[in-house]
Amino acid sequence: LPYLVAALVFGYLLGSIPFGLLITRAAGLGDVRKIGSGNIGATNVLRTGNKKLAALTLLLDALKGTAAVLIAGLYGPDQAFVAGLGAFLGHLFPVWLGFRGGKGVATYLGVLIAVAWQAALVFAVAWLAVAYLTRYSSLAALVSAVAVPVALYLLGHVQAAELFVLMSVIVFVKHRANIARLVAGTESRIGAKG
Ligand code: G3P
Repeated sequence: LPYLVAALVFGYLLGSIPFGLLITRAAGLGDVRKIGSGNIGATNVLRTGNKKLAALTLLLDALKGTAAVLIAGLYGPDQAFVAGLGAFLGHLFPVWLGFRGGKGVATYLGVLIAVAWQAALVFAVAWLAVAYLTRYSSLAALVSAVAVPVALYLLGHVQAAELFVLMSVIVFVKHRANIARLVAGTESRIGAKG
């Protein structure tokens, strides 16, 4: 048990690094929380107009999830799962930002890459297809969040499927403002400012 708590705390601390905020601030773009959706994720960094910084945010927010799982995984599979959940929760509720963090999509993908890369491919294909067809980043994430637990279950990763059901539910809750905008037809599309 002490190792599981340590894995959770380790994952949380790694996940709580708000790369989108740090990167945009370092680039002199101001506070990313004051533009667009107010989120600290790659989609909102893209609304600064800087594609490279958005890609870097996506990469690093994903990598912290991957790293948490792989490093904690050296101690066992349970530690890996718990650290992955910790990284996801750290991104959503970072102590450094008064627990107001991101929506977790990149970190969710990063954890998934380390847990079951085949399911990460399902995520990527679903995300890219929906984003290409609709230009809604949020809708792409929501569709992927439904597809992933199903894919994990079909691939025989039953325990991982349970973990990702929990994480997908949290992704949906975090996207409730996006869902309201999608229903109202006011959600901003990739490539549009604001
Ligand atoms: O990853 C978050 C994305 O699904 C939505 O981001 O900034 O449009 O709320 P945003």
